[in-house]
Amino acid sequence: MPTTATLTKQTEFSEEQFSMQWVTAAGHALKLRHICKEDSFKFTSFIKNLSSIAHHFRFGSSNYKLSQVDILNLCNPLPNECIHLIIVLREDDEEQIIGSAQYVIQSDRHRCEFSIIVADDWKYHGLGLRLINGLAKLGRVQGIKEMFGRILSTNQEMITFVQELGFSITDSAEGSWLKIATIDLESIR
Ligand SMILES: CC(C)(COP(=O)(O)OP(=O)(O)OC[C@H]1O[C@@H](n2cnc3c(N)ncnc32)[C@H](O)[C@@H]1OP(=O)(O)O)[C@@H](O)C(=O)NCCC(=O)NCCS
Repeated sequence: MPTTATLTKQTEFSEEQFSMQWVTAAGHALKLRHICKEDSFKFTSFIKNLSSIAHHFRFGSSNYKLSQVDILNLCNPLPNECIHLIIVLREDDEEQIIGSAQYVIQSDRHRCEFSIIVADDWKYHGLGLRLINGLAKLGRVQGIKEMFGRILSTNQEMITFVQELGFSITDSAEGSWLKIATIDLESIR
């Protein structure tokens, strides 16, 4: 049985260890970084402004409203349990969240479950790829071997996205309506 000793005891990530900035061809300044508790308001706005279909696929409800406890947990994750990365757009000294991805470390400490969402207006700009690669990099640092996600079988966009990245897709134990996408973290760089 695996023990916690097999998990690298890295639970804090400095800004240098994980933060990445770039400017898009259209001149937008973007940054990939860990979320923090000061992002609560921005994160609430990000979720509120997602389309109903995005709400449906991410939260299972087309008009999902985050509770204060959800927001607190999502914006202040304990790094030995959960990693939450965001991409922010910086304009006029203001930051707006345009993408979010997180993983939750499973009790075996070898696997983590991820979820991801990119703002509707920012799809196909490479944000999803940067978020997944970021999670994979941090997962490897934490000694995690495998990442998986649960995807509704009707969510063809997400299924295509993960297949392109090399995830394998299987039916869940609950049935073919729910797919499980799995990847060995060593295989995505
Ligand atoms: C899936 C999702 C994360 C992709 O994010 P994105 O920022 O648009 O993806 P990227 O721009 O980084 O695309 C990366 C690659 O994925 C592929 N891809 C992404 N979306 C695709 C689509 N709809 N169809 C085909 N290929 C797609 C492309 O091959 C792309 O590679 P390319 O740049 O060489 O063309 C985004 O569409 C999203 O948030 N969807 C809803 C997520 C969701 O349902 N979450 C709940 C379950 S976890």
